[in-house]
Amino acid sequence: MTDPLARARAILRANDRGGYTVPAARLYPFQWNWDSAFVAMGLSTFDETRAWREIERLLEGQWDDGLIPQIVFHAPSDDYFPGLEVWGTTHTPPTSGIPQPPVLATAARRVFDTATDEDDAEARMAAIYPALLRNHRWWQRARDPLRTGLVATLHPWETGMDNSPAWDRAMARVPTDTTTKVRRRDTLHIDPAMRPRTEDYRRFIHLVDCFRDAGWDPARMFAVSPFRIADPGTNSILLRAEQDLLALSQRFGTPAEQHETAARIAGLRAGIATLWNDAADLWTARDLIDGTPIDVGTSAGLLPLYTHAADAEKSRRAAATLTRWAGNVRFLVPSADPTHTAFEPLRYWRGPVWAVVNWMIADGLDWAGQPALAAHVRADTAALIDTAGPWEYFDPTDGKGAGGADFSWTAAIRLLLG
Ligand code: DGY
Repeated sequence: MTDPLARARAILRANDRGGYTVPAARLYPFQWNWDSAFVAMGLSTFDETRAWREIERLLEGQWDDGLIPQIVFHAPSDDYFPGLEVWGTTHTPPTSGIPQPPVLATAARRVFDTATDEDDAEARMAAIYPALLRNHRWWQRARDPLRTGLVATLHPWETGMDNSPAWDRAMARVPTDTTTKVRRRDTLHIDPAMRPRTEDYRRFIHLVDCFRDAGWDPARMFAVSPFRIADPGTNSILLRAEQDLLALSQRFGTPAEQHETAARIAGLRAGIATLWNDAADLWTARDLIDGTPIDVGTSAGLLPLYTHAADAEKSRRAAATLTRWAGNVRFLVPSADPTHTAFEPLRYWRGPVWAVVNWMIADGLDWAGQPALAAHVRADTAALIDTAGPWEYFDPTDGKGAGGADFSWTAAIRLLLG
């Protein structure tokens, strides 16, 4: 099949497990939170009913306190570790116990805005809006209890950028001992050179053990976690989603809800501004345990552009940083600074290009008055997918596809690129 859009649609259909889409057969056999948000946007280009179902099925996993978990285990599979028995949560359907970047309100707004069946869209959105609001309230209550304006990430899996070099220094504090037996499945499916290391996994699972022991109580998790980060990616995605929620609240919410959402937006804007890092010429993460900035440039550091609310001069400097990176790789956007010693072009979030991140960065570059650089990022994204196929991620030095094949969110982004 040569038409890339037809191929992308076929992948989304093949990865459909009954109203929800697995990111990739076998490697990720359940429903993942931010994957499904991008998938819903991709589905909306050709099947809006199915796009709504993707969102509704993800919300089946929402907890009473508002958390929308990273994974919903709709059906059993032994292909993935850690499975539901490791998480030990009590929700039905079973879920993990941590969040992922909250793209969902942005996706819901897009599905709503592009819907052609307006009555159906109105009814479905009216049911979804309160769940999105409860989720954004959860982020502030659970992850910014001191109202700093920045939400904290307690596990690298929450950022979606699991083994980013930005987490190395903070993760070094996390012990490698686990009470759960680590039975990795990912390296049965994928070349281990493309995945996080054994030691990373031991630390990932140590954190899961620690939160399970805390009874999945948000306040206890926040207090006991040995890993606590302010991530520019998560915070920017949340700020964008809050703006989309505000737009939805004009139609589906109350003046009081608009007011509270506007207040969260103001807090996030001010918080993200404090993540600017002169040494990196980019926004970077902050270690919230010792309060220090993390001087490693990553693609997450470009996501404040996607909030459409970043400072103009800093936005120019961030775009210049990306232009410098372009001199060191063949394809944008590497997930880590290609001049940094930690850069590894094939190892998951330590260098490879990810289509979803490119899509958000290109959107931000357009907003920042950088249309040529935005077009460059979009053209690279389409060229990578059309040449190598819709892989999970790509080597920025030679364009080789890596990780899982026929990957749902990569297919979704191909559809959004048109
Ligand atoms: C994994 O298992 O690799 C995922 O990134 C966790 O969400």
